[in-house]
Amino acid sequence: MDENFNIVIIDEDENTGKIIKSYLSSNEKVNICGVFTDFETGLEALSKIGKCVLFIDVSRNFDRAVVQIKNIKDNYKDVFVAALSDKTSTENIIKVMRAGAKEFITKPVIQTKFLEIIEEIKAEYFLTEQIDTCKIISTFSNKGGIGKTSIAVNLAVELAQMTKEKVALIDLNLQLGDVATFLDLSPAFAIDYISDNINNLNDEDLLKAMTRYKNTSLYVIADPLNVDKSQDITAEQIKKILSALKKNFSYIVIDIASNIDSKTIMALDYSDLILLISTANLPAIRSTQRCMEFFKKLNYGSEKTKLVLNRYMDNEEIKTPDIEEVFKQKVYWKIPNNYLTMMSAINKGVPVNEINSEANISVNYKTFAAKVSDYLITERLSKNFYNKQ
Ligand SMILES: Nc1ncnc2c1ncn2[C@@H]1O[C@H](COP(=O)(O)OP(=O)(O)OP(=O)(O)O)[C@@H](O)[C@H]1O
Ligand SMILES: [Mg+2]
Repeated sequence: MDENFNIVIIDEDENTGKIIKSYLSSNEKVNICGVFTDFETGLEALSKIGKCVLFIDVSRNFDRAVVQIKNIKDNYKDVFVAALSDKTSTENIIKVMRAGAKEFITKPVIQTKFLEIIEEIKAEYFLTEQIDTCKIISTFSNKGGIGKTSIAVNLAVELAQMTKEKVALIDLNLQLGDVATFLDLSPAFAIDYISDNINNLNDEDLLKAMTRYKNTSLYVIADPLNVDKSQDITAEQIKKILSALKKNFSYIVIDIASNIDSKTIMALDYSDLILLISTANLPAIRSTQRCMEFFKKLNYGSEKTKLVLNRYMDNEEIKTPDIEEVFKQKVYWKIPNNYLTMMSAINKGVPVNEINSEANISVNYKTFAAKVSDYLITERLSKNFYNKQ
């Protein structure tokens, strides 16, 4: 670890700089490159310093600060941003993290908590430890034809569109998956090739073996081109693929097959969020109930498993409160029934948004993606941040 740990502080209140400096005075290899009370001067210094951790106060003029963080992340890839604020509403924290900040530190800055956060930033800065910011979202149901693929595909497209971050979409329906068809892709390589070669593919090779969706930040791993290849793919190989993707992607969306085998369980285990898909009719509710019982045995809590009702209609005979009563869990999201838009999207091989961006289902998917992304950021923060308060 010969590299210096460079630090820049931008805060209108010059006391913050003094406090942070004093907290770091005994910290090895820390190099405080500059303390600025004015943003423009601080930004100018950033362009000369290169790799550094920037502590930036967002308490005053919050909206402007969020834009500034976004600009910094767009222009200076090596700058780790840690936001400081005396206003800690969840909404503010999410906005700042979405703009690209890695940490959110409450003011007044308390020494022990600050030093704990510094250790985490240091680990990532020196790459001694991979900080796990990639999140895995799965769509699952033990019933076929319920909407797993439609949801995985449209959610992944919207996540990529909204965050502009890299999103991987994996088809784990290894015998005749539908993801490539739903997006009209003709993959040159598929999951069988990637599984066979996972030990030898570097990050660049892996990305090349995936199929990019148009000009977006969404990359797809399709089901095997030959059905007979599906049997050769192991749970261990899938685990390796997920680990490799986690290094370079912000989100991984997995369309999981309905049958419960070792691959399904591995993917479910690895997921941060399982969207358990159901519909408001008795057979679907019964099988979702069985699925919930199975998840309980696997020790999945309600923070990991969320109930999604697909093809929802306002005049359903079985009402949402009845369903919630059965599952003893809130319905996380409802996707409206819109057969014409959905069928047209599938037949044309595009997301629903491209058929009609104003259709209820398209608007719903946009809001859904925002909710999922906000939830995952909040979960990450509650683990990395709130428990340090
Ligand atoms: N919100 C919706 N409104 C209307 N139709 C829908 C909706 N979501 C999905 N569908 C329709 O339901 C059918 C099944 O969807 P999909 O293929 O996504 O389900 P699946 O669970 O992936 O199925 P499988 O188990 O075969 O993989 C499709 O024909 C699709 O058009
Ligand atoms: Mg499917």
